[in-house]
Amino acid sequence: MTKDQLSTPHLLGVKDLTSEDIELIFRHADEFKEVLQRPIKKVPSLRDITIANLFFENSTRTRLSFELAQKRLSADVVNFSASTSSVKKGETLVDTVNNILAMKVDMVVMRHASPGACLFLSQHVDVPIINAGDGTHEHPTQALLDAFSIREKLGTIKGKKVLIVGDITHSRVALSNIDCLQKLGAEVMVCGPATMIPKHLGLLGVKIVHDFDAALQWCDAVNMLRIQLERQETSVRFFPSLREYSLQYGLNADRLKKVKKDILIMHPGPINRGVEISSDVADGEQSIILDQVENGVAIRMAVIYLLAQKIQR
Ligand code: CP
Repeated sequence: MTKDQLSTPHLLGVKDLTSEDIELIFRHADEFKEVLQRPIKKVPSLRDITIANLFFENSTRTRLSFELAQKRLSADVVNFSASTSSVKKGETLVDTVNNILAMKVDMVVMRHASPGACLFLSQHVDVPIINAGDGTHEHPTQALLDAFSIREKLGTIKGKKVLIVGDITHSRVALSNIDCLQKLGAEVMVCGPATMIPKHLGLLGVKIVHDFDAALQWCDAVNMLRIQLERQETSVRFFPSLREYSLQYGLNADRLKKVKKDILIMHPGPINRGVEISSDVADGEQSIILDQVENGVAIRMAVIYLLAQKIQR
């Protein structure tokens, strides 16, 4: 029998999803992607639902993508930005959210700099919570849209070889991607300076390499990550200079030319052009970076739609 409900009341991380949950989200995303190609890109599914987007950390893609997904589903939307809120006057996270929920909000999407902030919130409020990125911990909808984009281009995830390159230590995208891809049967390899790959990562069944050129020959898709300078302690040096990092781990046209097959080039954004990826590769024929962004709306529509079935009235 085909499953039609998620096994979790929240989306706190990929770790809460089964492979059946992910397939269910993908099936709905396929349908919503078709809706998004129509002249009227809107369905009335969530006409009676109000969603709050709480962003305690900066965002371009995720924030706009969630808001568009909610509006395409006909939900009412309120947006909150910590920098212009009463958080600046000392209000706690739970007080802030409970005050927003008192205005009859049915679901919360939250980005926060602290790992575990969404889990904490889910233990204190009674509505579905979607994690839009919590510190260095998880970014589940990014992983779902990345996997959905690979599936769209390569037909399946099962058996595919996916390489994740860069600042793994500070990346919530890496952790969520590894979990999601493995649940769907992909092989995952990570590559970067030893200082930027956590020692425990091997325990997750991930291959760890430091030779970027060899790793590129192995993979079907490569996901290039940004160095998260904002999460690095300034007293710690993870690599000698950006130029040296770029020479060893940057993806450019010369490097790509040596790869013997047409691999998919991915990046979650924001891109630091000329550091982890050159402009000609980011904008080149093998790049699916903007497809990832496009698919993000359909994936987030699917997640919101499925979690809305769990709202208690
Ligand atoms: N990929 C991603 O999370 O981008 P934003 O930080 O712009 O939301």
